[in-house]
Amino acid sequence: MTSLAERYRDRLPLTEATPVVTLGEGSTPLLRAPRLSEKLGVELWLKWEGANPTGSFKDRGMTIAVSKAVEEGAGAVICASTGNTAASAAAYAARAGITAVILQPAGAVARGKIVQAQAVGARVLQVQGPFEVALRAARELANRGTHALVNSLNPHRLEGQKTAAFEIVEALDGPPDVLALPYGGGGNTRAFGLGFESGGAGTPRFLAGESSTRAYTMATAIRIAEPAHQADAEATVARSGGAIVSLSDEEILTSWRELAELEGLFCEPASAAGLAAVVKERPESGARVVCVITGHGLKDQEAAARLSTPPVSVPADPDAIAEAAA
Ligand code: F0G
Repeated sequence: MTSLAERYRDRLPLTEATPVVTLGEGSTPLLRAPRLSEKLGVELWLKWEGANPTGSFKDRGMTIAVSKAVEEGAGAVICASTGNTAASAAAYAARAGITAVILQPAGAVARGKIVQAQAVGARVLQVQGPFEVALRAARELANRGTHALVNSLNPHRLEGQKTAAFEIVEALDGPPDVLALPYGGGGNTRAFGLGFESGGAGTPRFLAGESSTRAYTMATAIRIAEPAHQADAEATVARSGGAIVSLSDEEILTSWRELAELEGLFCEPASAAGLAAVVKERPESGARVVCVITGHGLKDQEAAARLSTPPVSVPADPDAIAEAAA
């Protein structure tokens, strides 16, 4: 399998000397969504980023950020994270044989993501405070020179993440009319802007779905009160002629269920914010729309419990099974 770094080497900040740290990220499926297309009156596609090695889009940026950190001689990386950046940083650090220190906001990270980071040997610390406070602490420690910061403030992260735009343009033979994605800290919105704008084939209108209750949303991946990239993310959306769409938890959860039930795609709740933005904004009939589905549903068991009930118990008898399944 070709790594993302090899596939787009000429458009990434890599040199002959960069030791590429890869887990086989990128080249994710772009899936048609026939039932949702019909329901919404648009041509809907889903960019399934949960298919990345650690189950989220973060791997695209992390392969580049960790490769550059190793090239620059770092022995340790650090990040603050609502969980997915953590799982990704931990895995790529393990792959590189260096240390990962993870700062998580207390009580606000899905258990599956903590497990992912710990399983590959990261040092996971719970910081008393929200994401912003943990991020500030990570930046301060990184400034001392002991740890390389691999949050999306690290410009190599955005360079790697922009490759998702390249893949979409290649698959559709041009940019879509609309690109819809979740907006947490705004790094991914910037990265898609970079990708489309540098590609030269034009830019879709961006619909960036954010939680209306940023500090409390049950979509914990985007529980971020102060987006680190706010000014640039807003500028990217404005240049595209698109909109930032404010969403209730109920709107996000409805789209989350529909992705699962109508298209068979089980993502985590935050990942459905792009679709929820499309449902709310209603692009013109027939528009070609790509929703970026940012992370896998298996990561957030606490949220997944909302979709499931305990299985009905049956004897191993065909008649009883047929009756119970009806
Ligand atoms: N979707 C998922 C699944 C995420 O984990 C995140 C961010 C976003 C969307 C929003 O992306 O911040 O670039 O606007 N997760 C970060 C983390 C904050 O620490 O894993 P953004």
